[in-house]
Amino acid sequence: MQASAQAQPNIALVKYWGKQDLRHNLPATGSISITLDAPRTHTRVNFSASQERDQFLLNGKPEPAMLNRVSACLDNLRALADCPLRARVESDNDFPTGAGLASSASGFAALVVAGASALGLNLDTQQLADLARRASGSAARSLLGGFVELLLPAADGPSTPVRSLRAAHEWPLAVAIAITSSRTKSVGSTEGMERSRLTSPYYPAWVSSAEDDLAYARQAISDRDFLSLARVSEFSCLKMHALAMSSEPGLLYFNGATVECLHRIRTLRTQGVPVFFTVDAGPQVKAVCLPEALEQVGQALADVPGVQKIIRCGLGAGARLDKE
Ligand code: DP6
Repeated sequence: MQASAQAQPNIALVKYWGKQDLRHNLPATGSISITLDAPRTHTRVNFSASQERDQFLLNGKPEPAMLNRVSACLDNLRALADCPLRARVESDNDFPTGAGLASSASGFAALVVAGASALGLNLDTQQLADLARRASGSAARSLLGGFVELLLPAADGPSTPVRSLRAAHEWPLAVAIAITSSRTKSVGSTEGMERSRLTSPYYPAWVSSAEDDLAYARQAISDRDFLSLARVSEFSCLKMHALAMSSEPGLLYFNGATVECLHRIRTLRTQGVPVFFTVDAGPQVKAVCLPEALEQVGQALADVPGVQKIIRCGLGAGARLDKE
């Protein structure tokens, strides 16, 4: 009863920040992302009667901090398969750890694909996306490649539809990720977004303005209109951080180099370089650009004081089982 799968992280262009239902981990708004082609997470899941309890190893080492979330995700799979067996889960990222890249999205996407297969469950992409979303909202989007939308649930149940807006090869954008700190973030997304929901006076406006951003981004992706996508992505990103900062106590994910990178990217764009920024719950900056601008963008960000490293990637495919 074993299987292995791979998946890559995704980056939200229209952000998810806030839940409408904690029990089912239902987002309060839809979101739109791009799935990257790196780093890749490989996950092997092995259910066996000799396994006394669930075990989780990340890059060969036990990772106790993540074990509860991994076990909860396995519990949902076990319930569907009516199987009591415990599992050993081994996950490897092909990028150095501590690179500051959110790997929980690729991690949980790969986990549900491998876990379902190991249990002999024949689930479709939507069922897998729902299982991944319950583990981590953003993980549902890594089930699909290219441009992906995670929608709100219909009134009749806790399923959040996930759909492809465009395949990666139809609009192959590139991404330069500027690593400005390798320290782990002080307040994780789950805790941070709950703090914003409970304390920020701006939270209702964040939720009520999301649909306009989603509609604008959908149209930009449909038209392959880079400047419109740049506009809505930077708007959603800065709005999310304004919301985070307006929480109590305020959440400040930027460091000095983060801010300097944002200015550098805007300057490049005024000079005609097709690039825009987005930032998640940490200090790294993701510069999304047309492929022909990647070298120039990467170099410009590498020159910003405080930038430790640049990771370059393209758009990639959704989570899938490994070929044996
Ligand atoms: C800023 O998906 O990590 O990256 O559902 O609580 O696990 P949980 O949150 P998570 O939050 C992602 C927040 C974000 C924006 C995004 O990816 O949409």
